[in-house]
Order: sequence, then C-alpha cells, then structure tokens
Amino acid sequence: MGGKPNASRFEYNATEGAPAPGAPLPPPAPAPVSLARMLSKLGYGTRKDAERLLAARRVATVGGTVLCDGDRAAHHDIRVDGEPLDPMPGSVVLLHKPVGYVCSTSDRPPLVYDLLPSRFPQRDPVMAPVGRLDADTSGLLLLTDDGALNHQLTSPRWHLPKCYEVTLAESLRGDEPARFAAGTLMLQGERTPLLPATLDVVDERRARLIIHEGRYHQVRRMFAAVGNHVTSLQRISFGPLTLGALPAGHWRVLTDDEVARLRDAVRDAKAAKR
Ligand code: URA
Repeated sequence: MGGKPNASRFEYNATEGAPAPGAPLPPPAPAPVSLARMLSKLGYGTRKDAERLLAARRVATVGGTVLCDGDRAAHHDIRVDGEPLDPMPGSVVLLHKPVGYVCSTSDRPPLVYDLLPSRFPQRDPVMAPVGRLDADTSGLLLLTDDGALNHQLTSPRWHLPKCYEVTLAESLRGDEPARFAAGTLMLQGERTPLLPATLDVVDERRARLIIHEGRYHQVRRMFAAVGNHVTSLQRISFGPLTLGALPAGHWRVLTDDEVARLRDAVRDAKAAKR
C-alpha cells in the first residue's frame, strides 16, 4: 500500500563538492541537516525521540550499517526498524480516497490519514490535503508538505481542470452539456455564475464533468441546479494527473516527472489568466 520514494536523492549531513572549473554553478545546496532533526521533521517524534531512535541502533542503511546523528546518508538508503523512511520533504502523494473517509486531521474518523503513515499529520510541515473531497466522494486526492505548491494548486485565482465521474439519480435530459458550458449557471446562494464546464455524457445516468474551479460541493450543486441528484462521485484527474489503476485506499509518491508536470500545469494556468 505504501508509496515508493521518487528518484531524486536527498542527503542528510551532505556537503556539495566544488563544481568543475568552467562548469555552470549548481543551485545553492540545502544546508546539511542532521539525521535526528530530519527524522523529527518527518514525524518520527521529538528531536529527543529521534536521538533515542538513533542511540537504540534502530536507524540503518539498506546495507545494514547502523547510522549515528552525524553520519551522511541518502534518504532512499535509510531504514528505521528495517522500514523505508516516509517520503522525503517536499513530496507529493497521490491517494485513492475511498468513500466515507474525511479530509481532515481532527474530524470524526475514518480520516484519510488513517490510510497513510501515522507520522503524516505530525510532520513539520504537515503533509496536508490539496483541497478537499467530500466524505461521500472517492478518487484522486493529492497531499503535500510543500506549502507553497499546495497554495498554488488551490489558489482561487486560477484552477487546474479536474475531471469527475458522476452517477445520477435521474436520467439526463440532454440540455445539461450546454447549460454547464454556458458560463451562466448560478449555484444556490452564490452571486457569481460558474465558469464554463465540460460535460461528456456516458449513458443516461452517467457522465464525466470537467470543472476549472473548486466551489463548495460544486459538482453535486451543479446537478442540483439542473434538477438532478448525484448518487456517486469520483475524481479521476487533477490537472495532468490521473487516478489510473491505483486501488481504493492505496497511495503512491509522485515521481519527479509528475511533480514537474503539475508545476508546468500551474504555470500554464497562471499564464492563461493574464
Ligand atoms: N464537487 C463535489 O460536489 N464534491 C466533491 O467532493 C468535489 C467536487
């Protein structure tokens, strides 16, 4: 069920070598971080707890070399009690949220955090959901501890397209695609019309809806506005990312390439706004 680390190396107590003469200057190296500090930031306990983990020889490399606080090691090469470390700082996780789970750290269980390493809510910064899905909605949910990226992905000033598979209580009438595309549909209690959205009808009671904003219960309220009722809702894509074949309740870490595509999509959405 776990995610596998992405390709990039993240080293603790690492120092960069000097660049070869004439070579372009590399980006500034992150300051070396001690193992105990990083374990604590990843949610393995307080700094003291992390120092105790190290002192108890519970932190080692894949090859079995026991690590001490001053040792240098790459993130992907470290094991705690034989288990790989949680995703490195700045990771983005894709969870297939099942129906019934709540996107919160403090609501009534079950919470999406029950499906993830117990350390995620304790991380500093916390591994936080990128926006929300209703408890009754399943599908693609991103989480990240990169607060700036989270902010970019959820900013109301631009929105990446999100696609939902919708099942309805009543048969579609036929005029819904045009009404959703018009950019004039008003949701109850709101003052501004929705942005145009794309509805592809699958059959009488099933459709795929692509929206470009994230208003409260937006998809359910859109169908309520045209006299229907959503009986099941699943998000199948977020910007360039798709849920794919990931089973419900499982999660994975996005690859560097996927994160780059997500950042590109934000950049394009911002540019389109200008
Ligand atoms: N629209 C909804 O109505 N619910 C969700 O969870 C997401 C979009």
